[in-house]
Amino acid sequence: MPIMAEPLQQVDRVFVRWHRRRLVYFAGCDYYRLASHLRVLAAVRRGLKAYGLNVAASRKTTGNHLLYDELEQALASFFAVEQAVLVDSGYVTNLAVAQALRGEFTHVMMDARSHASLTDAAMMLGAKVISFAHRDLVDFRRQLSGLKDGARPIVFTDGMFSYDGSVAPLAEYLAVLPVNGVLLVDDAHGAGVLGRAGQGTPSHCGVRDARVIQTMTLSKAFGAFGGAILGTRAVAKAVLAKARCFTGATPVPLPLAAGALESLRLFRANPKLQMRLHANATWLKERLRKSGMNLPDAPGPIIPVIPDSREAAERLRHRLLAAGVHPPLIRYPGGPDGGYFRFVISSEHTRGQLTKLAGALTNE
Ligand SMILES: Cc1ncc(COP(=O)(O)O)c(C=O)c1O
Repeated sequence: MPIMAEPLQQVDRVFVRWHRRRLVYFAGCDYYRLASHLRVLAAVRRGLKAYGLNVAASRKTTGNHLLYDELEQALASFFAVEQAVLVDSGYVTNLAVAQALRGEFTHVMMDARSHASLTDAAMMLGAKVISFAHRDLVDFRRQLSGLKDGARPIVFTDGMFSYDGSVAPLAEYLAVLPVNGVLLVDDAHGAGVLGRAGQGTPSHCGVRDARVIQTMTLSKAFGAFGGAILGTRAVAKAVLAKARCFTGATPVPLPLAAGALESLRLFRANPKLQMRLHANATWLKERLRKSGMNLPDAPGPIIPVIPDSREAAERLRHRLLAAGVHPPLIRYPGGPDGGYFRFVISSEHTRGQLTKLAGALTNE
């Protein structure tokens, strides 16, 4: 198996160039194709002209800028939290939280399929790590009730799991979590996709609780770059004071912060984007189910297809190519050993393109 995946060239918003062919692209995480939206690109260009590329210093020294404050305020307002802290990427959000809260908890209770950044964050937190079965409330409750009096747990989970678009039962976790416990939700995929107006998995689960810390990336649904920690003022204060990956790092390049701000504005002003994403995903899932495909009952716009043999994978690959669709066979830690096809629906796919994909998947 090659160590690195083949290079792909995006040629416009829903196509890629692959082995000299232009194919419809159902992969990646740019759910609204905001990474190529003309308004977002124009904002990045204006940002580059106005500010240059790089502040070349930490925000704690001479690298702060009003644009970062503006973006953090926009994020806090959009996600309806007390404060947002911008960090360099989605991966870094969880590490920064762990550095900020190190020593405050006795146990990290971690969903067994948590993202790699949560696994790394758990190692930095200085607490005993207990893994519970993936999205399994019974196992979660069992492990929680085994903790001794005086224990203070923090729960680590993805909000929406990128593998199949399923969601962690956040309300149920909170219902049994002690009042001094915390729930860290890596919402890299849920933010902008799920919940009222795209506020993410906590909103989707009807959860509003000061014990929740939501982390997100600006590089997926919002098509820009960077990450943000969303929560109470106390959490933000701890991150600003203690997280070395905040204090000791150069912030997101200003043009990208300008792009993220524009993307957020655009997204807020166009609720139809989220409606179109879910309408596309629902249409395709219904069409596939009618043809007898067994799909997970999940709200995310993701369709996992696990071939049961190498030959089956090859047959599907051929059908996809014949239909003009790029075959997104990926291997990823935590996924099936032989890899699987992860199809991701975007708001920008046309009904015709979805029909082509459905035809190739169902062989009809
Ligand atoms: C669940 C999850 N968390 C965090 C990240 C990291 O985000 P970023 O790419 O912005 O570093 C990713 C993916 O890249 C992810 O899928």
